[in-house]
Amino acid sequence: MKRDPLILVALAVAVLLVGVAAAIGWGAGHYTNRVKTVGTVSSTASASVDPKVAAGAHDFVQFACAECHGVSGQGGVSPDVPALTEVGKALTVAQLTHIIDHGLGESANPTKPYMPVWGAVISKRQVSELVAYIRVGLPSVPDATPVAVPQNQGPAVAGAALYVRDGCINCHGPNGLGGVPNPLSPDKTIPSLSGAGFREEFNTDKKIEDFIRSGSVIGRAPIVSMPHWGGILSDTQLRELVAYLKTLK
Ligand code: HEC
Ligand code: HEC
Repeated sequence: MKRDPLILVALAVAVLLVGVAAAIGWGAGHYTNRVKTVGTVSSTASASVDPKVAAGAHDFVQFACAECHGVSGQGGVSPDVPALTEVGKALTVAQLTHIIDHGLGESANPTKPYMPVWGAVISKRQVSELVAYIRVGLPSVPDATPVAVPQNQGPAVAGAALYVRDGCINCHGPNGLGGVPNPLSPDKTIPSLSGAGFREEFNTDKKIEDFIRSGSVIGRAPIVSMPHWGGILSDTQLRELVAYLKTLK
């Protein structure tokens, strides 16, 4: 009996489709396996840490809380900055949220580090993650570690890393481009650290260094002010930050 050529074509297509389906299935299985493997590794490493707490540990690094309060809030950076290891037991969620949003004593003594106002800079979700992390005693979380500062590659390279590590980037934007809202301040945004206007006003290294060291209180919370970094950053780190800022267009 003579076969209809159309049926042959249909059969060939069917065989092809089965092949393709099998290939996709194998690929998908393969992919899922790899994803699973990765997932298993990280979930074992942080088995006992709630995801919200883990996120808080990352926020703590991202917003440079660790640079002032020490790794895992253990203190030891400056006598003016308290450890945070016990404060989670002493203060309520509402109190901790208020301190992070509004800062503490921002204008009491301009010669010392003060707790910055973060409300306009850190999202509500991230503040609640930070509070969750502080409330459980700031446990160590894998990979929640500050970016390393490259050594022996020159001050501008070190300064670029410090710009992230010290959290300048959260307030002044990537590459110092600015644009971060500060709604109740006169300028409505936190200033950029690049461009002709900045270079004109800050035309010597010393002016930039002095400003970072002293900070600048421009109003009460919820206005965000420039934190005081004297006693937190070394003179070398200040010079490195300045070298980096001078590379910005
Ligand atoms: C520039 C340094 C600096 C940075 C950055 C900083 N803090 Fe603080 N923080 C302080 C100082 C100084 C105090 C003490 C203020 C006071 O008692 O007047 C403080 C106090 C606190 C307190 C209250 C502690 C207590 O015992 O009452 C909490 C909570 C806190 N900071 C959380 C944070 C979190 C979370 C971050 C990151 C989003 C952060 N801080 C970033 C300097 C800093
Ligand atoms: C919590 C937000 C915040 C963080 C973090 C922060 N700044 Fe600022 N910074 C400000 C604000 C607000 C001003 C404006 C102060 C003023 O107008 O007097 C400012 C001003 C400055 C200025 C002067 C610019 C100008 O045009 O007035 C320099 C330089 C500067 N910051 C550098 C830094 C560096 C370097 C870091 C990191 C070590 C940093 N800032 C971290 C908020 C921040």
